Amino acid sequence: MLSGRRIVLGITGSIAAYKAADLARQLVKAGAEVTVVMTENACRFITPLTFRTLTRGPVITGFFAEQAEPVPHIALAQWAELILIAPATADTIAKTAVGRADDLLTAMLLDTTAPILWAPAMNTRMWDNSVTRENVKKLTQRGHHWVQPTEGELACAETGRGRLAEVEDIVAAVQNLLLPASRLTGKQVLITAGPTREPWDAIRFLSNRSSGKMGYALAEEARRRGAKVTLLSGPVALIPPAGIDLVTVNTAREMYAAAKKAFVQTDIFMAAAAVADFRPAESKTNKIKKSKAPETIALVPNPDILLELGQHKGEKIVVGFAAESDKVVDAAKQKRVKKNCDLMVANAAGGEADAFAADHAQVFILDNQDQVEALPSLPKAQVASVICDRIETLIKEKNSPHTQKTGTRRRRGRKENEEEK
Ligand code: C5P
Repeated sequence: MLSGRRIVLGITGSIAAYKAADLARQLVKAGAEVTVVMTENACRFITPLTFRTLTRGPVITGFFAEQAEPVPHIALAQWAELILIAPATADTIAKTAVGRADDLLTAMLLDTTAPILWAPAMNTRMWDNSVTRENVKKLTQRGHHWVQPTEGELACAETGRGRLAEVEDIVAAVQNLLLPASRLTGKQVLITAGPTREPWDAIRFLSNRSSGKMGYALAEEARRRGAKVTLLSGPVALIPPAGIDLVTVNTAREMYAAAKKAFVQTDIFMAAAAVADFRPAESKTNKIKKSKAPETIALVPNPDILLELGQHKGEKIVVGFAAESDKVVDAAKQKRVKKNCDLMVANAAGGEADAFAADHAQVFILDNQDQVEALPSLPKAQVASVICDRIETLIKEKNSPHTQKTGTRRRRGRKENEEEK
């Protein structure tokens, strides 16, 4: 069920740590690759050797442990497809809620873009304490997931809520997160991301501030839902998600050529790249001398990839993006129609200078009936998740015989109206 899925199992200092041994075994049995990270206190309850034996994978006990790589929290944070903390203490939850990173586990949680799943275990009053409740709420708002502790006899000889959830329930929650039933499973998804660079001479170019974060988040999310993803990326400073085909390009024309080629096999196209609209009319192969600098640079338009491919979309689903500085929604509506998109994701541009580089985005999603959905400011990973949900709805509608009929009727209706005019 979890064949080849990469899970970091974080174990913190709770008496329930012994149950993590069975959990690690069940995850491995389900086919997952498990790397265990133990806090110092966890090692007082159970030994790393237990996990090394059960998982046959690495067990990392600190930044400076012998088996750790030079920057283990970064490497692990990127490697993980899911980070599960079981058992999770009130302390680790609190540290994560305030963004502390004084041990390997919390540093990794601060660095990862993978989903984070907590399975807490603690005394009832600690769990019910308003500080813990606030911390849990804060993390939930940041998109963290929970397997709630259950009620029963606790190690402190009291009875109440705070027992680590049953191992099979934790494994089920892992499976739900890693293998959500998705209409994207098996679909071929093409995503453009990042800026393009338009050379002017051997070392200078025109470009923009795009970080590529939105496109990369979409690639990660579509792959997580089982899609076969081709990510067509301009130059960015991001680590590509595992398990996708990455094609790197520099210029808009290179991106257009690669997109055109991949589009034939594509079911869903998402154009998240900030393609440079213009390029220098002439690009020198040598470096232009300062003394010979022209007063102006003549520009010529680049191909509009989304516009060109949108015209030939047939049954494909096409999603465009629009960063607008004025009348965001109206401008995005026009752009959706012009570029023949099923969905247009719009955001206000021009405020924060580094909005492109931000990890959060506040967007509007316009559908093909011009319905507008305003999302709150969310981490880009969550925006990607909502966009993928909307694409799944479109796939469902396309597959529904009723919608197909209504679609035909609607089209016919429109034609009749046109003839009347
Ligand atoms: O027209 P505008 O650049 O605002 O449109 C933005 C949308 O069009 C984005 O989805 C972007 O990826 C796409 N686009 C493109 N090729 C261009 C310019 C924009 O694919 N040359």
